[in-house]
Amino acid sequence: MKVIVCQNYQHLSDYAKDKVIEVINSKEKPVLGLATGSTPEGMYQALIEAYKDNKVSFKNVTTFNLDEYIGLKKEDPNSYQHFMDEHFFNHVDIDQSETYLPPGNTSDHQQACLDYEKNMHQHDDIDLQVLGVGINGHIGFNEPGTDFDTRTHVIELDASTREANARFFDSLDEVPTHAITMGIATIMESKQIILMASGDSKKEAVKRLMEGDITPDFPASVLHRHPHVTVVLDREAASLL
Ligand code: GLP
Repeated sequence: MKVIVCQNYQHLSDYAKDKVIEVINSKEKPVLGLATGSTPEGMYQALIEAYKDNKVSFKNVTTFNLDEYIGLKKEDPNSYQHFMDEHFFNHVDIDQSETYLPPGNTSDHQQACLDYEKNMHQHDDIDLQVLGVGINGHIGFNEPGTDFDTRTHVIELDASTREANARFFDSLDEVPTHAITMGIATIMESKQIILMASGDSKKEAVKRLMEGDITPDFPASVLHRHPHVTVVLDREAASLL
């Protein structure tokens, strides 16, 4: 596991942007795994700027997002589909029929999980998976206790996750209780992973990640078993290392 400590959030975002562009330029049909949350917003902004400066094209890129809330319509301002449209897809030349998120608003979520995995298998493995990390160590929405062999599945969100994400909703009651997320085994199949963490609120999680104890109680710890992971931090997130 390679660890990079950046001076600040902008440098962290630029580092991740450069990694994404490097992967895109190394392949004819690159496949990216994408994340939502506050952490990657700067990376998406930097990618949009690079696109506008003609430094990258997303025309041949396929994307699979990690997760989606259950029960929100696609156009709901808090759906991850909406996040991706607003923060990235609508601003670049990506073919939107090649951008996939787990559907959070279908009649059969178990079938939706199987379909999502099937679709992923019809494409090449993910070349680069972008990850953030929850304060409880979740990756995607794989909460503590999730088996390492899980594939795309429905999960009940931890109280701490709902509280952390309540800042985007009018009230805690409006935060969905469940989500669909790529499983840990799904994430681990990516060829390369970049995990970003920024800010003081992540310093304990980053410390625990680096302590190296591999346990489902702290899902991000599984990444120690992956051969090609880069952890990119800003100074605040790295302050307990
Ligand atoms: C969210 C998402 C994760 C994200 C994490 C951290 O709930 N499901 O994919 O990485 O929690 O979010 P943030 O970057 O906003 O701190």
